[in-house]
Amino acid sequence: MKVLVIHGPNLNLTGLREKEIYGQMKLEEINSLLLDKGKKLGMELDIYQSNHEGEIIDRIHQAMEVDCIIINPGAFTHYSFAIRDALAACQVPVIEVHLSNIYAREKFRHHSVISPIAKGQISGFGYLSYLLALEAAVELVKK
Ligand code: DQA
Repeated sequence: MKVLVIHGPNLNLTGLREKEIYGQMKLEEINSLLLDKGKKLGMELDIYQSNHEGEIIDRIHQAMEVDCIIINPGAFTHYSFAIRDALAACQVPVIEVHLSNIYAREKFRHHSVISPIAKGQISGFGYLSYLLALEAAVELVKK
């Protein structure tokens, strides 16, 4: 089972920026937890981070063969119709992930343009949001 994890803009600064919101754990540490758990779950995990909308779209276009995409689109969550359309085009089940609870924050973060095309969203559990998404991916692909 192949899973692509995409971290959007500014997530490379996780563990360094606004720690009270996004947590203390650095992105590399989150990635290594993901790789460990992925291995236990028998997944082939590919992890990608970019701060650029077009690069994220290009990476999604190359992902037609994966079984599931787990994506934290960062601020693009709230306005990128282009990322939403790319995800819809590749017809792979999508799980949307957020470190913070976007509904408990500023109003502009309450709306996601990604969720209507996602199977579901996991938001607010810090790095655990990603690990929970891996478990959800296993169940999704089994179906
Ligand atoms: C985020 C929430 C977004 O609103 C924000 O722009 C981010 C991170 C999260 O993981 O909580 O960059 O996606």
